[in-house]
Amino acid sequence: MAETLLLTGCKQLVTLAGPGPRRGRALREIGLVEDGAVLIREGRILSAGPRTRVEKHAAARRARKMDLGGRVVTPGLVDAHTHLVFAASRAAEYEQRIAGASYEKIAKAGGGILSSVRALRAASDDELLRTARARLARMAAHGTTTVEAKTGYGLDFENELRTLKLLRRLGNLQPVEIVPTLLAAHVVPPEYHRPGGADEYVDRIVRLILPAAALEGLAEYCDVFVERGAFTVAQARRIMAAARALGLKPRLHAEQLARTGGARLAVEVEAASVDHLDFVNSADIRALARSDVACILLPGCSFHLGLARYAPARRLIEAGAIVALATDCNPGTSPTLSLPMAMSLACTQMRLTPAEALAACTINAAYSLGRHARIGSIEPGKDADLAVFDVEDYREIPYYFGVNYCSMTLKCGKTVPRV
Ligand code: NIG
Ligand code: FE
Repeated sequence: MAETLLLTGCKQLVTLAGPGPRRGRALREIGLVEDGAVLIREGRILSAGPRTRVEKHAAARRARKMDLGGRVVTPGLVDAHTHLVFAASRAAEYEQRIAGASYEKIAKAGGGILSSVRALRAASDDELLRTARARLARMAAHGTTTVEAKTGYGLDFENELRTLKLLRRLGNLQPVEIVPTLLAAHVVPPEYHRPGGADEYVDRIVRLILPAAALEGLAEYCDVFVERGAFTVAQARRIMAAARALGLKPRLHAEQLARTGGARLAVEVEAASVDHLDFVNSADIRALARSDVACILLPGCSFHLGLARYAPARRLIEAGAIVALATDCNPGTSPTLSLPMAMSLACTQMRLTPAEALAACTINAAYSLGRHARIGSIEPGKDADLAVFDVEDYREIPYYFGVNYCSMTLKCGKTVPRV
């Protein structure tokens, strides 16, 4: 007989049920149920809602029962922007920035992303696998059940493909679902530091790296870092066109440190997401609001870099854009594994309400990964991905910052082992 599980004792069950993605006022509609229950069979949700109703379901009587004792239950959190596979921290740069050096200055001097490239190229598969796996376990311990993961510290054929293959192995080794993205266009690698070198590297991506990733079915998305010191809009447009032709959907890093026009390119190429957006202008906001592109905000970057500017989240939401939140877990700008921490920053620094922050890293984040029909809310038929928080009220998830209150994570109905 199929294993059936009845979860009760949900003081608050935050279902996020209803149509997704959420725009404008709808971002606050989180489907809050007091004294809720969830019935799970074969990894999927059979029924969810008020306990008295769910308990009447025919399958509930013979189900294994688990009383959560009055906790808050949300959909498993979806981290839609991470650089999961990297070899070493950049704590020395952190200290340099505190002393006054800027992120861009450190990058120009050969630090920054390029120092992570040197470290990844020198690291063994086992080392990268072990550290990324430990990060995934910690993310899950904070409630995350699905993680988008980018390459971008390899920057050559061998190491970009190697990172994608490691992501595939990681997906098979542990329960958190991984969505792989090729970010070969993160910065121009040292081998191409010469006049015209950037375009030659773009050529290599388009002719060699992208086709190989597509042919082996190793990547679902293709991303480009559109920024001064990285790639231009024209170069990104070329890479996006090549990616589309090979069946990889576009995502973009844009307007993080300066406005370059990357957000408008995301609208033009109908990207799945455009991420960062700290420097968008009013016309960009209107264009994004009219589009179906998910705007993924990454407040961990401004926080960790000690910058005063955060993306104009309220204006994006009020204009009607699809706003999502992610950690941007990476060693340079946002070394965090915690989506609840990203929610805290979004609430305090960007003035999202706790309800909006929760919708942004569940249903809207799932939408940005093309998975909102399967994950991102607690509704019959969806995967039983759940996060259980040891709090009384869902608003306490962002309210308590810097301490992990997630006490249990379920992926497809199974508890994810704690590290
Ligand atoms: O999302 N912006 C580009 N990529 C990362 C930073 C990566 C790094 O510094 O290693 C980001 O902020
Ligand atoms: Fe990033």
